[in-house]
Amino acid sequence: MTGGAGYIGSHVARILSQNGTFVVVVDNLSTGLDSRVLGLPSLNLELSDASAVAALEQLMREHKITSVVHLAALKQVGESVEKPEEYFSKNLGGQANLLTAMKNTGVKKFVFSSSAASYGVPDVDLVSEGETPAPINPYGQTKLIGEWMAQNAQTAWGLSHVSLRYFNVAGAGWPDLADTQKLNLIPIVFAALKASTKPKVFGSDYPTPDGSCIRDYVHVMDLAKAHVAALDYLNQESRPHSVFNVGTGSGSSVLEVMDQIKKTTGIDFEYDLVPRRAGDPPRLIADVSRINKVMNWESENSLVEIVESAWKALN
Ligand SMILES: NC(=O)c1ccc[n+]([C@@H]2O[C@H](COP(=O)([O-])OP(=O)(O)OC[C@H]3O[C@@H](n4cnc5c(N)ncnc54)[C@H](O)[C@@H]3O)[C@@H](O)[C@H]2O)c1
Repeated sequence: MTGGAGYIGSHVARILSQNGTFVVVVDNLSTGLDSRVLGLPSLNLELSDASAVAALEQLMREHKITSVVHLAALKQVGESVEKPEEYFSKNLGGQANLLTAMKNTGVKKFVFSSSAASYGVPDVDLVSEGETPAPINPYGQTKLIGEWMAQNAQTAWGLSHVSLRYFNVAGAGWPDLADTQKLNLIPIVFAALKASTKPKVFGSDYPTPDGSCIRDYVHVMDLAKAHVAALDYLNQESRPHSVFNVGTGSGSSVLEVMDQIKKTTGIDFEYDLVPRRAGDPPRLIADVSRINKVMNWESENSLVEIVESAWKALN
């Protein structure tokens, strides 16, 4: 697994290990934490380095790897706009090295962390996988091209792959694996509460019932289980699809999330309503019928469990 020391990857690694799957973690620890993968074999490696191919081949042979779950990536939208070259070289260069090592060692099962960012700003109530992808920033473009890379490897040398398009991931399955970066709504609000500052709500005039943006929040434990389902799916003979949304199929507005945070924390905080940010779709909710039907996967946790688990992990 790559990116196994990260927020999501460490949940996937722990669930797989608990299910009896042997997991080896590859991570450069740029945003990942060593402490999340204690007890698992791991290699500190920058995937995009030219020397990574040989190191990965050695690791795959040594541990008799049969499948790869690829989560390692830079993921900050704003940074990707400022440093597109870095996003293309790290995310796509890293993936090209990984696929080369897999090809050379005959490892043919691949699960890729894609994102709802692949869709861009779709003007639909529920986004299905049939929607034409149109990412609007370099980060989202690396995710869509990553899917294409896997698809091309399937055509060229028989890779079996699944790309999981995650929607808004939040919550914690275990306190030591909590999201420590302050990039997504819930961690940003918690950080503001800790610092006694007012969190910002970007946009209060969207065409939504309360005027704030609506997103599909999926619990990281449910998402981790979707990876287990994806690996099982790769063992099936009939695999009609390779791209799957991972969400809940229902949305919560930013103001609803604020209300839930107030209820969970017992803190009656104020927030600042500020102008919209460029590129934020008013609503982004997954149509999850494909993953429900084909992989028999469904999210189990609601926004309440998401906020409660994230808050508990901090306190
Ligand atoms: N968090 C979300 O809401 C979300 C939504 C959609 C998609 N994703 C995708 O999920 C994946 C994991 O995200 P996360 O939230 O756990 O982020 P994260 O930053 O916690 O995890 C990424 C991990 O990859 C490692 N890494 C990054 N670049 C690397 C490289 N070039 N070589 C080796 N290791 C590298 C980091 O050290 C880190 O441990 C990413 O691919 C991200 O794009 C996340």
